[in-house]
Amino acid sequence: MDIWNKRHVTVVISGGIASYKALLLIRQLMKRGATVRVAMTAHAAEFVTPLTFQTLTQQPVVLDEFTATDPKYVVHVALADWTETMIMVPATANLIAKVANGIADDAATTTILATTAPKFVIPAMNSHMYANPAAQRNLNQLVADGLHVLTPATGMLAEGYSGKGRLPEPDVIIDWLTDQLTQLTPNLPLAHQHVLVTAGGTREAIDPVRYISNRSSGKMGYAVAQVAREMGADVTLISATDQLPVPVGVHLVKVASAAELLTAVNAAFPTTNLLVMAAAVSDYRPVQSADQKIKKPADHGDLTLQLTETPDILKQLAPQKTSQYVVGFAAETQHLLTNAQRKLTQKRLDLLVANDVSKPGVGFNGDTNQVTLLRPNQEPVKTALLSKIEIARTILTTAVAGGAVKA
Ligand SMILES: Cc1cc2nc3c(=O)[nH]c(=O)nc-3n(C[C@H](O)[C@H](O)[C@H](O)COP(=O)(O)O)c2cc1C
Repeated sequence: MDIWNKRHVTVVISGGIASYKALLLIRQLMKRGATVRVAMTAHAAEFVTPLTFQTLTQQPVVLDEFTATDPKYVVHVALADWTETMIMVPATANLIAKVANGIADDAATTTILATTAPKFVIPAMNSHMYANPAAQRNLNQLVADGLHVLTPATGMLAEGYSGKGRLPEPDVIIDWLTDQLTQLTPNLPLAHQHVLVTAGGTREAIDPVRYISNRSSGKMGYAVAQVAREMGADVTLISATDQLPVPVGVHLVKVASAAELLTAVNAAFPTTNLLVMAAAVSDYRPVQSADQKIKKPADHGDLTLQLTETPDILKQLAPQKTSQYVVGFAAETQHLLTNAQRKLTQKRLDLLVANDVSKPGVGFNGDTNQVTLLRPNQEPVKTALLSKIEIARTILTTAVAGGAVKA
């Protein structure tokens, strides 16, 4: 179910040039099932009228608590108690300063102070205002007080020059909010776990412009990283591709060759709880990578490339394994189970995901996959043809059930 469904969300709008963008965000929240109420500062009402927000949300807008007409309610307390999630967007330097200091001098800031709901702050301001030490001090104070603060985007500002301070696009804000909110869900299966995922096909340089690689798109590894994050993990994704959007909340480490991937995995492995090696690591690389582009010989003769084996990462990691749960992948075109079973044992894996990449809809590039899960001393389990996200969920759930999370 969507995390926004039926959620009581209060959006506080302060007086910035990006106030109108709050309308787009509110529409998206409502589309996802949230009930949204708006509180505005007096200066925000100079930019967009309360009537616009009232019409959009079909709820009264809180602007001034001293002219309230219903004697049964104190406006800011009623709204604060109703709120399950509070979003300040755009948050002006002024609003941030007030919240950091507990100032409550209008309906919006009083509601912020009065609510116990998780609070999300989306600053937007001129780049010099954002860089000002006072603004930075206030933002740090918000983080120290447990509020969640989104870093502004860098780009063209309303002032006509470029800098850091722009309100990120509504899609970026929604993805960030959804990730932050998900991480606050109690009892996520991978909470407090460090999950390391590798993805994509490595590239082994022949010369500065050419390389040897494979057909792996990285989609399976990216799906594992996304689902691991949704399950509450602290996820590092070591990626040999830059063609895919990085899942929100996931730390990215970019690599190209098998050797770079090995270095990155080695660095992270000691503090990893669960490693999922979904990258398609080249088995061979050119013995020499030429410094300059290789030219065609004058006689147009054949060119012979001499290849040498790349390091076998899983084999190298096996002796270093302490409490880590290690998941490997085997892409085969024949003798799937025999080859996979051998790999499971030889590389001391806890789980091996085998797929027959010769079948349509399976393995490289597509959005679907069908795999067989092998674990030591257990019968192999074959999945249906599923989306890569669903396959990722199956892999991680199997890992959790198999003891990936130590008590
Ligand atoms: C045209 C215009 C645009 C502004 N844009 C911003 C802005 O993007 N961010 C910001 O922090 N302040 C901005 N300000 C300044 C705030 O409106 C001002 O600090 C005000 O006191 C904020 O009040 P509030 O936080 O109660 O809404 C802008 C002012 C004007 C006149």
